[in-house]
Amino acid sequence: MDESPEDQRQPHRLEPNQPASLEQLRQLGVHYWKLDADNYETDPVLAKIRKEKNYSWMDIITIHRDKLPNYEEKIKIFFEEHLHLDDEIRYILEGSGYFDVRDKDDKWIRIAMEKGDMITLPAGIYHRFTLDESNYVKAMRLFVGEPVWTAYNRPADHFPAREQYRQFLAPAVQ
Ligand code: LAC
Ligand code: NI
Repeated sequence: MDESPEDQRQPHRLEPNQPASLEQLRQLGVHYWKLDADNYETDPVLAKIRKEKNYSWMDIITIHRDKLPNYEEKIKIFFEEHLHLDDEIRYILEGSGYFDVRDKDDKWIRIAMEKGDMITLPAGIYHRFTLDESNYVKAMRLFVGEPVWTAYNRPADHFPAREQYRQFLAPAVQ
């Protein structure tokens, strides 16, 4: 994405565009699925992912001016560059938004997420989230066991989760 600090809800696409591939995201430890959001309550594909990955915990969050308490404050917090000590797992049920992740060169990749998109961001990756111009998203949050939402704003390089992530990114030693 471009570096412009203006309106975070705009696409901020580079001109010309430089699309990021799913393979590029995989190399950053970011994983993606397209699921059937209309049937999330009974979807066997979602059930299988949850079972295999141990995503035992879930809730549904609606981010909208009239629905989310402390909306303005939360919007700001979500868009502060941060990391977590656990994976961040999100599944968009309605609406849309952007997850921005840092690539290997510390540049932002903007990931446009819409209904049916599920993503996992690895522990230790620097990232942020914003609504887009639709100003509405309803998303499932998943977690392995009891959730810990603590966000550590950058710089947060002293955590073992960050060091592990850096090692994951480093080219393999011969
Ligand atoms: C979170 C997203 C906003 O931490 O990154 O919930
Ligand atoms: Ni986060």
